[in-house]
Amino acid sequence: MIYRTRRTRINENIRSIVRETVLNIEDLIYPIFVVEGEGIKEEIPSLEGNFRYSVDKLDEIIKEIEELGIRGVLIFGVPKYKDEFGTSAYVEDGIVQKAVRRIKEISNLFVITDVCMCQYTSHGHCGIIKNEYVDNDSTLEYIAKIALSHAKAGADMVAPSDMMDGRVKAIRSLLDENGFKNVGIMSYSAKYASSFYGPFREAADSKPQFGDRRSYQMDYGNIREAMREIEYDIEEGADIVMVKPALSYLDVIRWTRDRFNHPIAAYNVSGEYAMVKAAAKMGYIDEEKIVFEILTSIKRAGADIIITYHALDVARRLKSR
Ligand code: PBG
Repeated sequence: MIYRTRRTRINENIRSIVRETVLNIEDLIYPIFVVEGEGIKEEIPSLEGNFRYSVDKLDEIIKEIEELGIRGVLIFGVPKYKDEFGTSAYVEDGIVQKAVRRIKEISNLFVITDVCMCQYTSHGHCGIIKNEYVDNDSTLEYIAKIALSHAKAGADMVAPSDMMDGRVKAIRSLLDENGFKNVGIMSYSAKYASSFYGPFREAADSKPQFGDRRSYQMDYGNIREAMREIEYDIEEGADIVMVKPALSYLDVIRWTRDRFNHPIAAYNVSGEYAMVKAAAKMGYIDEEKIVFEILTSIKRAGADIIITYHALDVARRLKSR
């Protein structure tokens, strides 16, 4: 026998020496939901262990995130006021804008903001509706305005998740015109029309009131099309490209890693999180072990950055090792 691959598995010392992929706290980005109002810290039923915070209640969680060694957060706003044009998404005193100002005031975290319209529109779609169709070109102006308002509030990076064509270019141009040359863009480039977003839409109150998102988000049968989405976003100036969801799309992450040199973010979305939580609650799986296996496999597939609701738990465990 020449090859005995088991020799390098004989004990934990050698296993850790030859381990190819290791999860680090620095890989993780934690999503935070911010609501309008005061004194609010309410658990999100579909995302157990995650909360909606009003701006005045953010300090504690922000301090905790920093102490754990997590470097970045992704901010989602849950506004009270909604209209056809998502007006509350780009006002100076909007919920995300207020949250960003507070977080930058009290911490050194890298703050990324989700740029989209679905939480802010009465119809729950990610753009401007014309004849029951999400109109691409008129939406671009709004998406860019939202991004600019986040930059003005102090965001380090904006993350458009609307899936309109040309949004990265529209955002880049408006940010540059206004002197925000160093505010980056993490584009949700390959974002699929997925049933894994269910719990998020509960958390953010962003369900479409008619139809679905399949005329703008991608068809899950496609991977070459994802490469085109990524290629165009890079050409338009994206600094980081994203694949979303993560777990059913590990092949997309791998293809992206093999074809492009940009940093890749993978979004371990709400439905993926909720499935783990539910199965753990039933006693069917070991939550801690499964979470490490899932996140490591996302990294092994080629992701540099993992956006996950498990971030705090994982960081606590990594820190105590
Ligand atoms: C907004 C947005 C969604 C998610 C992130 N940004 C929902 C959607 O597109 O319907 C989903 C995140 C998750 O499920 O964790 N467009």
